[in-house]
Amino acid sequence: MPALVLLGAQWGDEGKGKATDLLGGSVDYVVRYQGGNNAGHTVVVGDQKYALHLLPSGILTPECTPVIGNGVVVDPSVLLSELSGLNERGVDTSKLLISGNAHIITPYNVTVDKVTERFLGKRKIGTTGRGIGPTYADKINRVGIRVQDLYDESILTQKVEAALDVKNQILTKLYNRRAIAVEQVVEELLAYADKLAPYVADTVLVLNQALDDDKVVLFEGGQGTLLDIDHGTYPFVTSSNPTAGGACTGAGVGPTKISRVIGILKAYTTRVGAGPFPTELFDEDGEALRRIGHERGVTTGRDRRCGWFDAVIARYATRVNGLTDFFLTKLDVLTGWEQIPVCVAYEIDGRRVEELPYSQTDFHHAKPVYETLPGWSEDITKAKSFSDLPKNAQNYVKALEEMSGAPISAIGVGPGRDETIEINSFI
Ligand code: GDP
Ligand code: IMO
Ligand code: MG
Repeated sequence: MPALVLLGAQWGDEGKGKATDLLGGSVDYVVRYQGGNNAGHTVVVGDQKYALHLLPSGILTPECTPVIGNGVVVDPSVLLSELSGLNERGVDTSKLLISGNAHIITPYNVTVDKVTERFLGKRKIGTTGRGIGPTYADKINRVGIRVQDLYDESILTQKVEAALDVKNQILTKLYNRRAIAVEQVVEELLAYADKLAPYVADTVLVLNQALDDDKVVLFEGGQGTLLDIDHGTYPFVTSSNPTAGGACTGAGVGPTKISRVIGILKAYTTRVGAGPFPTELFDEDGEALRRIGHERGVTTGRDRRCGWFDAVIARYATRVNGLTDFFLTKLDVLTGWEQIPVCVAYEIDGRRVEELPYSQTDFHHAKPVYETLPGWSEDITKAKSFSDLPKNAQNYVKALEEMSGAPISAIGVGPGRDETIEINSFI
């Protein structure tokens, strides 16, 4: 069975880009199914480093067809500049396919995202300011603009009018901003039409035919399980479904086609933006994780909040995604700690809780219960097999595997494509 989902098991930035790129050579299609350019996926190939926001990481593998599915929100200006940036570096992007049903992030969606956050003040989500939430809100409100609308000026104008009717009232009367002119937006969007035309396709048909032909399709999630609009730490989440089910709706592929769901899991935890984070560290250990792990956002340049590994979250990710495997990343970052605490449960109002509490109030009060595992000091970045790892690193991986509820099938020991230990093959 040839369809795999690869997704973030924590709060994003687990190393999905690297993992996707690694599998790129063995898959025929790499599909983004949700999110937009709020994502920042870093791929390191040899001495070249790429930061991808909207394009699937498969774009760097010539044999692979990259697909932007219907569930993604597309900012055309970002997409075109990402494409031309890659072209300048010699990457062929001509195979890209974009769903005509994907929604467009319009300039007013970006404005609304920024204005809303400012208005929320202390209560803000800490969004990436890329217009993601307002674009998905328009989609659900049925006033969104889709890629295919760029090819019918009359429909596009009517839809932009409908969307701005209400938004201009809010912008001018509530937020004290200037109204946005319909003609200006339509003109800007129409200017993208010809440039995007070669890529626009019926991606649902293409992907289902590919699966019928036994091609291998990899669905690459953006963000992560705890940022999921339904299953994450709402309201401190993104506005889409990064969890496994999102791959079905966001690409138009039935759940019976999915054979494997791989959770990308960092050997510690990070989070960007606001919201609860039980194992967050505010001491020199947190600072060291940030420094050694280069934990700075690829999209917004914000410092990532850092903390120890949280097995409660990993177990939850296994459950809500039906994970078949984990890809454990950044194990090398933990080299040098004598003892490594791992959160095995929470204490909530004096009670020990083993699973992610269903109530947000409880989660806000959750204090980590730690078990401490012995660390290692040897450089592990050259390790090629599990047995190359020092005993304590092996035991750390085994302990995480046992607590997290799915086999760890690969381990990242550095950012490069080849800095990976493969235990079980994914395909
Ligand atoms: P994504 O959003 O999940 O694709 O992850 P990001 O690219 O935002 O952040 C992950 C960072 O960790 C990137 O800078 C990667 O190059 C880097 N990285 C990925 N895997 C490893 C690993 O195993 N070890 C180290 N040291 N860095 C890694
Ligand atoms: P990748 O794919 C980490 C966070 C933002 C904010 C919240 C909502 O690189 O893992 P949004 O702009 O989506 O409305 O912001 O979600 N966020 C991410 N955090 N990695 C990401 O993507 C993220 N995309 C969004 O920081 O807290
Ligand atoms: Mg990222």
